[in-house]
Amino acid sequence: MSQIDFFVEGIQQLPAIVESKDDTQERVAQAFMEFMQLGHIYESAMEVVKTYLGILDNEFNIKFQRNPIHNIESRLKSADSIMNKLIKKGIPFTIENARKYLLDIAGIRVTCCYINDIYVIAEMLSRRDDFVVLKQKDYIKNPKPSGYRSFHLVLNVPVHLSSSKTTVPVEIQIRTIAMDFWASLEHQLRYKPSGTITPEISEELRLCAERIAETDIQMQKLYTEIME
Ligand code: GTP
Ligand code: MG
Repeated sequence: MSQIDFFVEGIQQLPAIVESKDDTQERVAQAFMEFMQLGHIYESAMEVVKTYLGILDNEFNIKFQRNPIHNIESRLKSADSIMNKLIKKGIPFTIENARKYLLDIAGIRVTCCYINDIYVIAEMLSRRDDFVVLKQKDYIKNPKPSGYRSFHLVLNVPVHLSSSKTTVPVEIQIRTIAMDFWASLEHQLRYKPSGTITPEISEELRLCAERIAETDIQMQKLYTEIME
């Protein structure tokens, strides 16, 4: 979602943000301004991480003549999703609460070529002394019951503004092309409004993830064999 869309959606959510029946023009304008600033800060934090990922990818290319990163996607959580997630958690929808309780307003998905690349990228991101690791989950070593595999990292990322510095969390999902293929299709199937996912289908999806994971391991072995 672009920053403009984020703002437009923000306008629609303003009554909830203002949290007051006495919503004078001034309060609405103030809330809108804060919402715009919020979007800008999270967008900027994503840019900081993406720039660093690009630097790492280029450095790898110079040293080893190949790119560990296949693709990078990023998204800003929509105002609607922010509101629904807070409501689901039983937390009032305010900008302060969104900043405090949601770790995935800014999300980056990094698709790598090989499994080992995932760990190299995760390690490099975690090692930067101005990024603080808030959360880390290895769903590759410990796949989810669905079969989902990825490495998740939530980093607190500094954003330098004209006259202040702030930090916001950025969720980074790092996975192979194969893991991404499975996750994308599984997500599409699971969230199809008309479809029903029976336990049998769930089990088949999990088995597909397992087969894909075996192929990932085989490709890593081949790469290591050829290159070393
Ligand atoms: P939420 O972000 O609130 O879901 O909670 P959490 O912090 O426990 O996050 P989790 O580590 O479960 O990762 C959440 C994100 O990972 C989701 O938004 C998806 O993008 C992805 N994800 C997690 N489980 C699955 C899964 O079974 N299938 C697919 N396709 N994606 C998943
Ligand atoms: Mg999430």
